[in-house]
Amino acid sequence: MSVSTKIEGRVARITLDNPDKRNAFDDSIIASLTKAFKSAGNDDAVRVVVLQAAGKHFSAGADLNWMRAMGKLDPQQNRDDALRLAGLMQAIDQCPKPVIARVQGAAFGGALGLICAADMAVAAENARFCLSEVKLGIVPAVISPYVVRAMGARQANRYFMTAEVIPADRALSLGIAQEVVPESELDTTVDALVDALLSAAPRAQIEARDLIARVSHGPIDQAMLDHTANLIARLRTGDEGQEGLGAFLEKRKPGWI
Ligand code: COA
Repeated sequence: MSVSTKIEGRVARITLDNPDKRNAFDDSIIASLTKAFKSAGNDDAVRVVVLQAAGKHFSAGADLNWMRAMGKLDPQQNRDDALRLAGLMQAIDQCPKPVIARVQGAAFGGALGLICAADMAVAAENARFCLSEVKLGIVPAVISPYVVRAMGARQANRYFMTAEVIPADRALSLGIAQEVVPESELDTTVDALVDALLSAAPRAQIEARDLIARVSHGPIDQAMLDHTANLIARLRTGDEGQEGLGAFLEKRKPGWI
């Protein structure tokens, strides 16, 4: 099995499990991963999703045999195929549950898209990242919105064009990973983030993510002020906001814990 999902408590752990091929993904793995994210997202019992990988490496990105075979397909088939990879990135980015990527070893090409589409990433000190596409005569196309969002356009210029290997400490400063720890501490670090996520209100978390996307672009004009004011007005009067505010003031745990 190349992708498996295990639900433990309120956490869905989606595992890339094809270490012999360095967890490289082809069309069938893309379909399985997309399905796994959609079902975890729709599962009311799940509060947090962890994307992880079996073996020494997180993932070698797109399966290069599959990429080369695309040369035999017509332009429409190629576009449809690429859109399915874009659909996977979007399923992670828009997952209605917070997503943590747990990264060890190499994370090359499309793997960086998976990581940057997640809400946050924890990397082992041995992790290394590379946008190797230009060395293969292609570009990191469908993953670019997520990678550029994470590292910014100027840094992306460098790493998209040089395909340099990015060590874990550099990935931390670039915003690809939010924590870098010894590999033996990956699980406890991920678990601490899971605990923090579980302590917060589920709908507010997704509203917070949408808010960040909205305020990251465009002028701070009246429309933006209206958007932020409307949001807080709606959330503080909503069920979850009233429960969270009440729980704090009444010195009790909110209902979502
Ligand atoms: N697609 C298909 N197969 C891949 C692959 C990929 N992206 N990456 C690795 N493999 C295969 C290798 O061909 C090899 O297969 P084999 O055992 O049949 O010979 C096997 O996985 C092991 O690869 P190897 O390079 O020996 O592993 P490694 O542990 O020394 O190095 C990587 C791991 C990820 C650093 C290295 O495999 C690599 O650079 N891969 C290419 C990554 C890349 O550029 N991806 C961009 C995709 S757009």
